[in-house]
Amino acid sequence: MRIVSGIQPTGNLHLGNYLGAIRNWVRMQDENAAAGGDMLFFLADLHAITVYNKPEDLAANTREMAAALIAAGVDPDKALLFNQARVPAHAELAWLLFCTARIGWLNRMTQFKEKSGKNREGASVGLYAYPVLQAADVLLYETTHVPVGEDQKQHLELARDIAAKFNTDFDTELFVLPDPIIPPAAARIMSLRDGTAKMSKSDPSDMSRINLIDSDDDIAQKIRKAKTDPEPLPDNAAELDGRPEAKNLVAIYAALSDESVEAVLARFAGHGFGAFKPALAERLVETLRPIRLRFLDLKHHHAAIDRVLERGAEAARKLAAPVLDGAYKALGLQR
Ligand code: TYM
Repeated sequence: MRIVSGIQPTGNLHLGNYLGAIRNWVRMQDENAAAGGDMLFFLADLHAITVYNKPEDLAANTREMAAALIAAGVDPDKALLFNQARVPAHAELAWLLFCTARIGWLNRMTQFKEKSGKNREGASVGLYAYPVLQAADVLLYETTHVPVGEDQKQHLELARDIAAKFNTDFDTELFVLPDPIIPPAAARIMSLRDGTAKMSKSDPSDMSRINLIDSDDDIAQKIRKAKTDPEPLPDNAAELDGRPEAKNLVAIYAALSDESVEAVLARFAGHGFGAFKPALAERLVETLRPIRLRFLDLKHHHAAIDRVLERGAEAARKLAAPVLDGAYKALGLQR
């Protein structure tokens, strides 16, 4: 298996990132390392600049996100950890793939529509073209598996379409078609303030998300104030339909305790949120506290983090070279 995934180094790592993606990275890392497979995890700094980022913030956030990933269990001795900007092959392959990707395909990307909002004409070309860079990120490494949250599924389908078209157009088997790995229980963690909106770094309300660096008290307070409804919890999952906030909190509990939603409901059926919320807060604190403590310790070690990223990048540059070379050759480009 060749496992690849990325995260944008903007803002803090939040519970959606952790349960939707990072926890799976760490689990797959441990299994895959034992099986002798390769893993590459990167900070998508080239993706972060598709919207304006203060340069000094980008540099600091890149280091902090690296520290957060290590604190969450990414092990630079088992997986390569680097930032995209250190591996120019990502941007190079992206250009080659721009010429295979179709405008009609990009026009269907829902994330662009959400992120550009009403001001589509004023969005950067990078924001529009972003999924092609993401395709390059995975195709560059002959990736077989990509652990992500559900919001990235459409981007990975695009990567597969681009790979298949390139292989057909240029009569090659260069690109491997990657499979997304999406966790069943935590594919889409929702905002604590609105069960129909994704938990996200860009939500202006910090009460909408649990950050991995939130204190125990912050976590308890955010869960106490999380939006719910007055009904008690039902005894089967189907009855959570139409109750998005309740459904989300139960899904979070199930993911944290590695149980099915049914198993959680079997314990809490008939209870109101007054009983459920403290139990959920306790689970969250139990999971997040050790990560936060490691993060707070690691984040000051700038030189050590930079060394990790450079070491990861050096190995990634080597892994990327043959596919990049193959893409230039397939196109008939001379270097
Ligand atoms: P990003 O930085 O928005 O999010 C990182 C990972 O967290 C997952 N995620 C969630 N999962 C469940 N519930 C949520 N509320 C939630 N919010 C975020 C995302 O699905 C993602 O897995 N485009 C990507 C970064 C990227 C990438 C790649 C990923 C760039 N190149 C190549 C995989 C392969 C992004 O912006 O993720």
